[in-house]
Amino acid sequence: MEAAPAQVVAVTGGKGGVGKTNVCANLGVALARRGHQTLLLDADLGLANVEVLLGLRSAHNLSHVIDGLVSLEQTLVEGPAGLKIVPGASGISRMAALSRAEQAGLVQAFSELTVPVDFLLVDTAAGIAAEVVGFARAAHEVVVVVCDEPASLTDAYALIKVLNQEHGVKRVHVVANMVSGAQEGRRVYAKLAHVTDRFLDLVLSYLGNVPLDEYLRRAVQRQRAVADLYPRSRSAAAFEDLATCLESWPRPRGASGHLQFFLERVVQAEVAVP
Ligand SMILES: Nc1ncnc2c1ncn2[C@@H]1O[C@H](COP(=O)(O)OP(=O)(O)OP(=O)(O)O)[C@@H](O)[C@H]1O
Ligand SMILES: [Mg+2]
Repeated sequence: MEAAPAQVVAVTGGKGGVGKTNVCANLGVALARRGHQTLLLDADLGLANVEVLLGLRSAHNLSHVIDGLVSLEQTLVEGPAGLKIVPGASGISRMAALSRAEQAGLVQAFSELTVPVDFLLVDTAAGIAAEVVGFARAAHEVVVVVCDEPASLTDAYALIKVLNQEHGVKRVHVVANMVSGAQEGRRVYAKLAHVTDRFLDLVLSYLGNVPLDEYLRRAVQRQRAVADLYPRSRSAAAFEDLATCLESWPRPRGASGHLQFFLERVVQAEVAVP
């Protein structure tokens, strides 16, 4: 059966703790609420992962898929509004050392997924390690989360530079997180754009902001999506706005829209990096 093209979006940011997982999970919930079949690949091994954030528990993860014990479909965990999560866990760290047969098996597992997918969001770890860069370069679109701190801006720039100069990424979207509002969001974006415009050959675009919101923090503490607990909060509205922007992106066409194509690009990148 021909799978419909999925939009693969990597959510990354360079620095730790800038809100990547929160943006990824709550944006995923917003897309799911709007009726899009949305899959979230948890590609971060850190503790603050998607399942913890949303109070979910999985029995299996990608490692079990690599070992041929379960199908990819069997790893899926159902989140709010029908968002589906692929728990990465140790499978993600193993991707760097897969044999050819295991690589082929994993790619095959993604090609056999029968659930329709409109969006695949990938939550990555902090930093510019090969696997982070590998996921970002293989995605159709890259979202970089930044906040108004020098370390966040320099780390985001370092990541964008590697993606652009070493991996040919030509387009990056920016989400300004933990800002006071639209004005500060634009200002943070402008700071980053100032350096990328000067030194890099890529299009940086502003996706929007997520305000620093006490309700989001409370939702994190209670392990729930902010839209579920506090649908009228500023951050829940911001995630809706971000989802609207993603809806307007042109859809990928042809083979590049298929999930196995994305996985192929990820595992091939891993092999290419010594
Ligand atoms: N817009 C916001 N308003 C209030 N608190 C926020 C906001 N965004 C993130 N936080 C807080 O910041 C913390 C870190 O967020 P998150 O785990 O999403 O970051 P991360 O970039 O994924 O971190 P890591 O690099 O460890 O994966 C969370 O505990 C959350 O409470
Ligand atoms: Mg995270």
